Amino acid sequence: MYTHSDLAALQAQSLKMQGWIRRQTFSPELEKTLRRFSSWEVAELVFRINQSTFRGRLAAEPGLPAGEVEEDGRQRWFSLDEINDLRRRMKVNRRSLMPPRPKGKRALRAAIANFKGGAGKSTVALHFAHAAALDGYRVLVVDFDPQATLSHSMGLTDVSEEHTVWGILARDLINETDRMNAAPRGAESGAALPQRRLPASIRDLGLAELRVNDFLKSTAWSTIDIIPSCANAAFVEFASAQYRHLNPEWSFFAAVSRYLDHLPDDAYDLIIFDCPPAIGYQSMNAVFAADVLYIPSGPGYWEYDSTTSFIGQLSEALEDLSAGFGETFPAGKVALPKAFADVKFLLTRFEPANDLHKAMLEAFRKVFGDRVSESPIEMTRAVEQSGRFLCSVYEIDYRDMTRETWRRARASFDTAYAEFKEVCVAAWDKVEARS
Ligand SMILES: Nc1ncnc2c1ncn2[C@@H]1O[C@H](COP(=O)(O)OP(=O)(O)OP(=O)(O)O)[C@@H](O)[C@H]1O
Ligand SMILES: [Mg+2]
Repeated sequence: MYTHSDLAALQAQSLKMQGWIRRQTFSPELEKTLRRFSSWEVAELVFRINQSTFRGRLAAEPGLPAGEVEEDGRQRWFSLDEINDLRRRMKVNRRSLMPPRPKGKRALRAAIANFKGGAGKSTVALHFAHAAALDGYRVLVVDFDPQATLSHSMGLTDVSEEHTVWGILARDLINETDRMNAAPRGAESGAALPQRRLPASIRDLGLAELRVNDFLKSTAWSTIDIIPSCANAAFVEFASAQYRHLNPEWSFFAAVSRYLDHLPDDAYDLIIFDCPPAIGYQSMNAVFAADVLYIPSGPGYWEYDSTTSFIGQLSEALEDLSAGFGETFPAGKVALPKAFADVKFLLTRFEPANDLHKAMLEAFRKVFGDRVSESPIEMTRAVEQSGRFLCSVYEIDYRDMTRETWRRARASFDTAYAEFKEVCVAAWDKVEARS
């Protein structure tokens, strides 16, 4: 017979192993570190310029960061900060190397969502975040999934639950309840909201005292921050149901959106959400805050099936919100019905030589038209191999892998990212500037 204590004992054993793997993987301080990038990568894969042009520029302008030369090597290796410095200061054929970013607008928010488990959400979120940072964007990723795959692969392991999306939700409940309780009531306001009381068990957690920045954690990439998750945040689904009961007028689904509205417009360029494989309070918050909905799906028939039910259920859930929290609702600045600037489907783990996969891609295109991303992400051993070191394909040193496998994997993510970027830049036009 096995009870909860046996499960707890098994978990304790497993945590020891987790610690051991991390010690083998990260630097001795247990901190994830980011490698340097070779001049070949910086020129051809990051700036997309000729290698000799790049070397020529470095030689002609001694003030530019010069990178480091390894003992036995000829190539120069650049840190991310040096790459960003070069990007700001170099022009090629009078063209700036900075990525497009409309002035006076907040960061563009994209949710990577599908309730199908293993669809490739976290892999896509991780690789898009790294590709965007290498492209010169400042990125925030939000891990909405208590499995915390994304947090772990970004090197965050000791996360306390109040610093997760759960903390943001509970803090929002407190702030919103106080706001509603303080609102004018009676005949002249036209609203007769009852006073709502929150129990000490929620008030005494001190969440109302947390500042906006307390939730933002830095990562091994200086231009990527994360709002991490942790296993303990799994109770957020139960807790949120209780919170709604305590204050039925609380627009629970807008908590993260409201939180993000408090960030300065230029703090980040892109905000990427990794969603859990379920439609619940966390994924509804992600979807509601998103300008762009990106739906990864595996290339098999059953995955197509699940993706179809996912959009059906999401549509129903969003319709329910509109019906339940209609225009007359005093929810502050929450616009309903929720409208996305764009919705895209992205096939992952795609094998170009597999007839079934090709047929499924055709089927996706027939049904969803140009909502289907042009270039699927290929199935590649590079994901498995770099994942073993809790890394992305961008982070792993290409000398640690068959060069062709690495190059092909990277090209696949690069192409999918380029399309994602195009979608985001176009969607930015539809995001209203705050005055
Ligand atoms: N392009 C790819 N090539 C090879 N393996 C891949 C690829 N994309 C994802 N995988 C593997 O598939 C598995 C599931 O991927 P991932 O964790 O990204 O899915 P997910 O949708 O986030 O899952 P969950 O629903 O559990 O959060 C992982 O083991 C990952 O390494
Ligand atoms: Mg995941």
